[in-house]
Amino acid sequence: MNILLFIILLFFLIIILFSSKKLSPIPYFPSNKKDLSLIINVLDLKNNQIVVDLGAGDGIVIFNASQKAFEKKLNTQFIAIEINPILILIMQIKRLFHPNKKNIKIIYGDIFKIDIKQLLSFDSKLLTFYLYVSPWYLEKIIKNLKLKIKNFSLVSYFYPLPKIKPKKIIFGVNKIYVYKNL
Ligand SMILES: C[S@@+](CC[C@H](N)C(=O)[O-])C[C@H]1O[C@@H](n2cnc3c(N)ncnc32)[C@H](O)[C@@H]1O
Repeated sequence: MNILLFIILLFFLIIILFSSKKLSPIPYFPSNKKDLSLIINVLDLKNNQIVVDLGAGDGIVIFNASQKAFEKKLNTQFIAIEINPILILIMQIKRLFHPNKKNIKIIYGDIFKIDIKQLLSFDSKLLTFYLYVSPWYLEKIIKNLKLKIKNFSLVSYFYPLPKIKPKKIIFGVNKIYVYKNL
């Protein structure tokens, strides 16, 4: 009986975490698996680069990209920032078994409040953000980033940045917008 009650409570807790607008204003929806190789390609992985997924979900992009960096023997650093504690837990578990775990950081936090600059382990001129968030949040996030950081690249999945021309657009299952020198 106690176990049944625990399962029911857990179930409701998960529903609340995934549906609460306050806890997760941008719903969890992973980047399409079929577009992963295109996404990793435009992240343009290099030595001394930092790749940050703002709202990383279950980390599908970060973990696949860091696998690629590992295979290419690159020291690229990966940071996954996420507000949903269940997705954080999933990423922490995935990280434990990842061959490139020393280069992956999982951060529980709010992308609108976190001090990104403080998270960067070195002053990288090669800083790339990955975003898959609704267009009305994109503008706010970019504005915040630009206040703190000079010159970064950005890959936006599905949605373009308002008023900024992308350097290129990749046509996968969904569009991938690439921005440089923001
Ligand atoms: C559309 S999903 C994209 C997930 C992942 N980037 C991907 O491409 O597979 C957006 C993610 O942002 C997270 N999120 C929403 N608001 C957030 C916030 N304020 N701070 C950090 N993460 C947030 C959600 O929990 C969700 O996992």
